[in-house]
Amino acid sequence: MRIGILGTGHLAEFLIRGAGGRYDFVVSPRSAARAAALAASHGVGVAPDNQAVVDGCDLILVCLPAAEGVEILRGLRFRAGQSVLSAMAGVRLAALAAAVAPAAAACSMMPGLANAHGLGPCLIHPARAEWEGFLSALGPLHVFGNEEEFVAATAFGALSGATFFWMDRLAGWFAAQGVAPATARRLVAETLRGNAEVLLRETASLAEIQRGIATPGGITEALVARLADRGALEAWGEGMDVVLARVRGQSGENS
Ligand SMILES: NC(=O)c1ccc[n+]([C@@H]2O[C@H](COP(=O)([O-])OP(=O)(O)OC[C@H]3O[C@@H](n4cnc5c(N)ncnc54)[C@H](OP(=O)(O)O)[C@@H]3O)[C@@H](O)[C@H]2O)c1
Repeated sequence: MRIGILGTGHLAEFLIRGAGGRYDFVVSPRSAARAAALAASHGVGVAPDNQAVVDGCDLILVCLPAAEGVEILRGLRFRAGQSVLSAMAGVRLAALAAAVAPAAAACSMMPGLANAHGLGPCLIHPARAEWEGFLSALGPLHVFGNEEEFVAATAFGALSGATFFWMDRLAGWFAAQGVAPATARRLVAETLRGNAEVLLRETASLAEIQRGIATPGGITEALVARLADRGALEAWGEGMDVVLARVRGQSGENS
């Protein structure tokens, strides 16, 4: 199956890597060095321009900059029978659908780099059967019928990115205490992976889990108390509020 990609940037590369040779890709020519590298490493075709990507494919994945993407799509001609999937943060379905009519339209969100490893959750709204196989190859798929629920869930893209900064601070802290940097990096990653698996495998509520793992008077309680004192736990919610306003299109910026 062939997929045309508009916007040959970081996300496009992650998704092409994650698809693992199961799809033929044709990419737009800007970011020529990346397009050429993907042609060499993954056999993607490089189209002469954006319209050639659209003309040559029934499935078109849009990885353009979010601020300009809809305007760029408005300048292209789509046909009935095509299906366009946006991966652009904060782009709403109505604007996308108007820009690509008479093609079908859907919006998605994914973390990016985790998808290169087949481990990044993918969200799509509304259900589009023609995209489900591709997205499922990139990680667990969540199909949303309700747009507001979908848009709120897309804020996870920023959560995903922010965890790399959080993990960096933690790994750096261990290294500063004399733990070998490679061990510190593994320790942080393995701790989070283990606990993420707990959440996926166990049915206990988070409140029950917290009661089980935080010994009264123990070191977890001490860390959580310090974080709470400094507003660090509340700050996650405040930061996510900022992201939600962006993806809802309430802040005037959406990338
Ligand atoms: N990065 C991620 O992990 C991630 C995750 C989820 C969603 N997203 C979404 O994916 C989109 C792309 O993000 P990114 O991080 O991949 O950005 P990026 O690396 O900057 O890629 C954007 C690409 O679009 C190209 N482009 C700009 N204007 C164009 C035009 N008129 N025609 C064709 N190509 C054009 C750029 O080419 P030039 O280099 O020549 O400007 C660049 O190759 C954004 O909307 C973002 O919200 C990204």
